[in-house]
Amino acid sequence: MNKVRAHTNIALIKYWGKADTLLRLPLMSSLSMTLDAFYTETSIEATDGPDQFYLNGSLQDDRTAKRVFKYLNLLKQNYGKIDNLLVKSDNHVPTAAGLASSSSAFAAMAAAFDSYYQLNLSKRDLSIWARQGSGSASRSIFGGFSIWQKGHDSASSYAYPIDENPQMDLHLLAIELNVKKKKLSSTQGMLQAKSSPFFQTWLDRNEQEISQMQDAISNNDFTKLGELAELNANEMHAINLSAQPGFTYFEPNTLKAINIVHELRSEGIECYYTLDAGPNLKILCQLRNVKFIKNRFESVFDNVNIIDASFGPGITYLD
Ligand code: DP6
Repeated sequence: MNKVRAHTNIALIKYWGKADTLLRLPLMSSLSMTLDAFYTETSIEATDGPDQFYLNGSLQDDRTAKRVFKYLNLLKQNYGKIDNLLVKSDNHVPTAAGLASSSSAFAAMAAAFDSYYQLNLSKRDLSIWARQGSGSASRSIFGGFSIWQKGHDSASSYAYPIDENPQMDLHLLAIELNVKKKKLSSTQGMLQAKSSPFFQTWLDRNEQEISQMQDAISNNDFTKLGELAELNANEMHAINLSAQPGFTYFEPNTLKAINIVHELRSEGIECYYTLDAGPNLKILCQLRNVKFIKNRFESVFDNVNIIDASFGPGITYLD
């Protein structure tokens, strides 16, 4: 069997806007950190029976399976394969963590297809294919820090690594505030965000934000990295609030958690936040402050689950 593991990633400079919905071409480049704590393992093989998708051991027959086979049919058509497929995925992304599993899911799926059919695709091609399953998956092919360059068509829109083995002292604490499914999918949110009067400004700033983040990484500058990531997340959520009609992924506890970050900083504990299409805050900090920050969140929120992650690897072939 050909099992492949892919880790999720968190965008420090976000993808939030599509130029082409079907091909998942973005309107901006994005930059992310691949995380060690969360991953998906997937195997694919031909079957005499119908197409089947097992997620965490249970057979799926809903929307999830449809999305998976619609995606795999693209790959099959492109590479002239006609088999029905048996797909088994195990998500080691605590659903509670509020971290999207689609990035690891589609990166693992593309790589498992490549592995089963021994196509020997390059990482660039895998990234292009992963992107078509879920945009953020393009970045999960690689470990450490990677950039998904927006490109101008499908062949030029892929991720590449900027440092697969960073020495930076950087931790991400995923604070589980709400485990319910998000109100608005990323696809819908991105579409609606385009109506914000600030959307063009969001796009205009992208190139500069990417290059400043690259500088922060190459200078091993945690403060700059944190400031830029927090600003970029705030910009994305400001676009949502100012869309017409406006919407937000924030919940009361999101603001409460943001205030804790402000408080910690005023006490000299350096930390920053980022958040995606959901209410859960992710804290960026350094190892020496992990415990203190965790304790503070635990003292404010009852029974909150906090997961500590750092850099994870790119796709890994297990057997
Ligand atoms: C806010 O990759 O989930 O997490 O391409 O529609 O599947 P689709 O979107 P998806 O969007 C991720 C959006 C984000 C920012 C990011 O990861 O860059």
